[in-house]
Amino acid sequence: MIPDTFIQGLLQRIDIVDLIDGYVPLKKAGANFAACCPFHAEKSPSFTVSPSKQFYHCFGCGAHGTAIGFLMEYAGLGFVEAVKDLAHRAGLTVPEEAGPPSSQMPRVSSSALTELMARASQFYRQQLKQSQKAIAYLKERGLGGEISRQFGIGYAPANPQSLAQVFEDYGHPDLQLVGLVIKNDKGRLYDRFRDRVIFPIFNQKGEVIAFGGRVIGAGEPKYLNSPETPLFEKGNEVFGLTQARAAIRQSETVIVVEGYLDVVALAQHGICNVVAALGTATTTTHVRKLLRQADQLIFCFDGDAAGRKAAWRALENSLELLTEKKSINFVFLPESDDPDSFVRREGQDAFRRLIDHAMPLSDFMLREVASHCELTSAEGRAKLIADAKPLLSRLPSLLLRLQLVKRLASISGFSQAEVERLCNLRPVIGQAPVRAPRPTPPSIIRRLLPLVLQKPQLAGALPLHLLSATSQEAQALRQLCETIGRSGDQPPAYPALLERLRGSGHEGILQAAAAELLELPFAEEAIDEEFAGALRQLRDNEMKRALEPLQDKARRLGVGGLSGEEKQRYLQAIRGGGSVQAASDERKE
Ligand code: UTP
Ligand code: MN
Repeated sequence: MIPDTFIQGLLQRIDIVDLIDGYVPLKKAGANFAACCPFHAEKSPSFTVSPSKQFYHCFGCGAHGTAIGFLMEYAGLGFVEAVKDLAHRAGLTVPEEAGPPSSQMPRVSSSALTELMARASQFYRQQLKQSQKAIAYLKERGLGGEISRQFGIGYAPANPQSLAQVFEDYGHPDLQLVGLVIKNDKGRLYDRFRDRVIFPIFNQKGEVIAFGGRVIGAGEPKYLNSPETPLFEKGNEVFGLTQARAAIRQSETVIVVEGYLDVVALAQHGICNVVAALGTATTTTHVRKLLRQADQLIFCFDGDAAGRKAAWRALENSLELLTEKKSINFVFLPESDDPDSFVRREGQDAFRRLIDHAMPLSDFMLREVASHCELTSAEGRAKLIADAKPLLSRLPSLLLRLQLVKRLASISGFSQAEVERLCNLRPVIGQAPVRAPRPTPPSIIRRLLPLVLQKPQLAGALPLHLLSATSQEAQALRQLCETIGRSGDQPPAYPALLERLRGSGHEGILQAAAAELLELPFAEEAIDEEFAGALRQLRDNEMKRALEPLQDKARRLGVGGLSGEEKQRYLQAIRGGGSVQAASDERKE
């Protein structure tokens, strides 16, 4: 957990215009900066960055966020990674509150550790140039010098203490901490990687955080990998992302394969949007990370039984991330192939054809589930539904679920309603469509939100008890005001607020309000008056609402049916508040 106050201070130090300009050249446009949106294809710039409010917003695709959000969306960093990256730029160190289990590792500055990895990596690369054996092996695998350079491929010499040439203090515990050096039972130190071709694994910032080493020719183990270290968590990292990023962006597709060599061989054949999950099963973290980079994900595993099993695991770990905007597909190679052998034999075009005809996740799911059921018997058809049930219920997309339910119904001979009932799914048809944008008239809350965003000090003057309404907007405004209220005298600026409400479900509403401000900010001198007007309207509304039961009663029973106290309140309201009068007039029409 990173403390909120740190994030607030960090966002104050970073200039989002500088940050974004480093990735997407910005042009001054009035009070703001603009560019063609990096998050969707467009010809005229609708991507806007506000220097005064420190956020970006795209009027075309709705992309919106702070400096942290930008790094997450653009560079595909996780939240913590993005904060660390910004902190590094600002010369700050990220403090941690009550560390999560992974931080039980000894605390060493990670930049000192990445420095060790960088030096080792450089050494291995130099050594490759001097090893005829390793070069010949790579050549035999069809890899040229250019690709080897791109991936930073190296060679670890056979000498068990080669790294002593690089690190004067070979016994330094940090070398063991990052997994480069191993201490045996007798206390003897030796290099982990010996006589192997070395594949460096980079993090999203392009720093080397781990290595994989392949034995040259036959031998066991075929690959030796860095252990988990403070720099490297296997389930979070993929191999090849640094090299693949541009191609992923361009093709809007990321291909996931099993092996180091698959990634490199495909790149050698001009297919560059490829990453590998490092010999572990594809985790939900992997999938989430990759779906941030592209809307389409294609798994292309080996054609053997292990590959098919890996594909199913990947499906299970992807289900909950398959929203309507995303597409996840599977390529199944011939039995004896992996992507490397296939592309070397059949060539780039043949591989691209496979990718173009990848099987949608839903087809794969149905095919697999059906293949384990005897569909000619009633029991088999019931089993089909039972097996599909846990999978269906994890799909977030109602539309996709509906499609699958229909297909399950037609395969099983049950009706659609029966399938839904058997799977405990709420019937999809007849329900409100998913998040249909509701054209609400500009409500009072909608007027208040941008006001409070522009001038957070106003939050304190807002009677929160009048915001008890159940609308999303009212809840968002309430949460916004409470957040501001908790922050003491110095109310946080918009970016800090947006970060604090990350994951609250209310970000969309705040973003819309902030985008309004971008187009039409309030004049400073008009804000207070606007706010006072909005407050009056809020109070009026509340009074009307409170009076409704009384009015009802008066209408049913006549004024004579009211008690003395009620009569007084009623008459006072009618005579007093002009707006209440207007309201009761409206009702008579
Ligand atoms: P593969 O056995 O499919 O290897 O394992 P590969 O990438 O096709 O390599 P080549 O073509 O035989 O040289 C797939 C991945 O599983 C991990 C590695 O990440 C490898 O790339 N693996 C495999 C290991 O970590 N250790 C091993 O001993 C084997
Ligand atoms: Mn292979």
